[in-house]
Amino acid sequence: SAAVTSVLPDRETLATHVAEWLVDEIARSTGPFSIALSGGSTPRPLFERLAEPARAARIDWSRVHLFWGDERFVPHDHPDSNYLMARRAMIDHVPIPPGNVHPVPTHGSPEEAARDYARTLRDFYQGERINPTAPLFNVNLLGMGGDGHTASLFPGSLALSERDDWVVAVIGEKPEPRITLTLPVLASAASVVFMVEGASKQEPLARARAGDPSVPAGLVWSDGQLIWFLDEAVAGGKIDP
Ligand code: 6PG
Repeated sequence: SAAVTSVLPDRETLATHVAEWLVDEIARSTGPFSIALSGGSTPRPLFERLAEPARAARIDWSRVHLFWGDERFVPHDHPDSNYLMARRAMIDHVPIPPGNVHPVPTHGSPEEAARDYARTLRDFYQGERINPTAPLFNVNLLGMGGDGHTASLFPGSLALSERDDWVVAVIGEKPEPRITLTLPVLASAASVVFMVEGASKQEPLARARAGDPSVPAGLVWSDGQLIWFLDEAVAGGKIDP
């Protein structure tokens, strides 16, 4: 699928642009609208904008289903939890039905959590195998780390080659175990959306956009469209054609 790129002047206008894009996507859809959320710091201003009353009122939250592309294996009230960040920035401030929020379980063992979440995803998908012509998500929102990682797929990780399991536990690659969707599931979206900002990520971003396989974000594909929402600092000021 061809990639689409939008370059915004800065982090704030980037967050507003992506928020407005999402509002439009949801408004143009019918039925359930599923979004896989990324964690870290980049999406926080996006979540905050989606919860701003004037904008939140333009979203039919009863149709929105929230999932996570990855999660730290910590309690849901732990400061490192991607779920907690999304709750504080957005979920606690919008009328989304609790049953529409599908956090990664973080009790038991990381392996059990990965299995449980794969079941959650399959139940929502109503299928056991990904069909590339029938995306699981409407939108899969991804960030990218300074090392080019995305979700919790880190450079050189065995998880990058997983093509059958939908969700895997990543142990020992970060201080906390991670639970991450695998590449075929991250690709299973009508729109795979990267949101990346900051000059520090210029080099890994350029490699990712060139499809450099040594950069996890460069291995990501989309069964639908692939969109790069960037700020000028990371895009090197170049406004892509
Ligand atoms: C996570 C994220 C991760 C994130 C990158 C970028 O769990 O940390 O899902 O993949 O997108 O680490 O993080 P920043 O946005 O904080 O730079």
